[in-house]
Amino acid sequence: MSVLPIYTYNQPVLKRRTERVELMTEELDAFIDDMHETMQNAKGIGLAANQVGVSKAITVIDISDVEEEEEFEPITLINPVIEKFSDEETEYDEGCLSLPELTGLVNRPEKVTVRYFDREMQEQLIEAEGLLARVMQHEIDHLNGIYFFERMTPVRRAKAHAMIKRIQRGLIETEYPIKPYKPATGKSKKARHS
Ligand code: NI
Repeated sequence: MSVLPIYTYNQPVLKRRTERVELMTEELDAFIDDMHETMQNAKGIGLAANQVGVSKAITVIDISDVEEEEEFEPITLINPVIEKFSDEETEYDEGCLSLPELTGLVNRPEKVTVRYFDREMQEQLIEAEGLLARVMQHEIDHLNGIYFFERMTPVRRAKAHAMIKRIQRGLIETEYPIKPYKPATGKSKKARHS
């Protein structure tokens, strides 16, 4: 297993809709192991395949480090589709491994029903609520090329703008390997006063 670098905003692969997986192969199975290891190394609770540069509809989730979720077993969702959303919405402060240092409140449905394939390519249906439903929606958005800040209200999004630009320029530090859109050169221009 190996830790893969996480692609950060605004790498093109993150805005592209991922492709469905038709067949599980040994190579893909090993890649899913790498995804789990990469997520764990970055202390993330979810990771989508395009966040490590592979445009396939695969996401891994592990919320077991979160209080009251210790019983949770890591899962892999292949070709996940949300079939049902609850009318009730909740607000939660989200973050993203592809947007280091950015957090922001996002409203989403409290419950979802998700159809997906597991690692054995068996079809599964899961009803999720709370944090799990939240993470599933965030990750499925990734697979469709959507960032969480695109779900923020215009006012909140405007506040996040400067940080998003910093991330795009690679001016961020992380405790996990990343592949920024524009790697920081280390040369910073002197401020000019006029
Ligand atoms: Ni994310």
